[in-house]
Amino acid sequence: MSVAEKKYAGKAYNSALEKIEAALEARRGALVLAKMEARLAEEALDVTLPGRGRGRGGLHPISRTWRRIEEIFGSIGFEVADGPEIETDWYNFTALNNPENHPARSMQDTFYVDLNDAEGKPLLLRTHTSPMQVRYAKMWVERFRHAEKVPAIKVIAPGRTYRVDSDATHSPMFHQVEGLWIDEDVSFADLKGVYTDFLRRFFESDALEVRFRPSYFPFTEPSAEIDLQFGAGPLKGRWLELSGAGQVHPQVVRNFGLDPERYIGFAFGSGLERLTMLRYGIDDLRLFFDGDLRFLSQFS
Ligand code: FA5
Repeated sequence: MSVAEKKYAGKAYNSALEKIEAALEARRGALVLAKMEARLAEEALDVTLPGRGRGRGGLHPISRTWRRIEEIFGSIGFEVADGPEIETDWYNFTALNNPENHPARSMQDTFYVDLNDAEGKPLLLRTHTSPMQVRYAKMWVERFRHAEKVPAIKVIAPGRTYRVDSDATHSPMFHQVEGLWIDEDVSFADLKGVYTDFLRRFFESDALEVRFRPSYFPFTEPSAEIDLQFGAGPLKGRWLELSGAGQVHPQVVRNFGLDPERYIGFAFGSGLERLTMLRYGIDDLRLFFDGDLRFLSQFS
């Protein structure tokens, strides 16, 4: 084209280009809008529907009890110790003054493990937390073996225990908390004071009657079973057994590595399921292990 023609054609060309682009832009806009409207119509959100939510986890009631026990005893100077659930015959029985072949050994039906210890005796699942008395005390005495005086042993040991046992108030796996306080002058009166105070704080009530009923354990002398009577609520007037306890037997103090003429104190062993059942008014212990969220969510 000549220069004059180019001038003319360029103008027409540019104006056509602008029109086409504007038309394309308008069409693109209309398509995007139509697509968005279609999508909105399709994915309509009903904000009035209830949300699905995300289930909130919570602590198991036994864990709550476990923590409460650690808090309460921790506040009066008890250490917390942990130990093995697979035990030797010596720690579970012999060190606790259960003579070989003595009927006391069959007071607790034991699960045995298909492995032997160094003495050739079968290992077992601990039937109570009491072996922790011996494990902890021996460790402590060893630590202070050059000291003039072994400082007070003041410890609780919560954990799992096992027995061949199963009904509404007995489970093959359950939890106990062991307590041990040994010094030069710890008496049965201290046991009564400390344990009663623990129960009042645990159940958040002073309206509790606590009874120390004479009983027998090979590793304590004298021995007692601790019962609790409710002063109010649906269980008013009922006595319920919570714990075994007593002054640690001189032979057991000797097995700790201490002189029973100088060191004396108490021990107790309480069932965590039992404490939890009483605190929340639960009548069947199997509920703790069924994993039913309708039950468990009441505690979270
Ligand atoms: C003992 O186990 C002793 N070691 C307690 C003890 C410790 C006495 C220190 C003296 C000094 P007993 O077998 O009574 O004692 O059990 C103690 C508590 O564990 C019972 O009161 C009960 O609350 C709980 N318990 C026992 N067996 C079961 C079971 N199968 N299921 C749930 N709880 C149980």
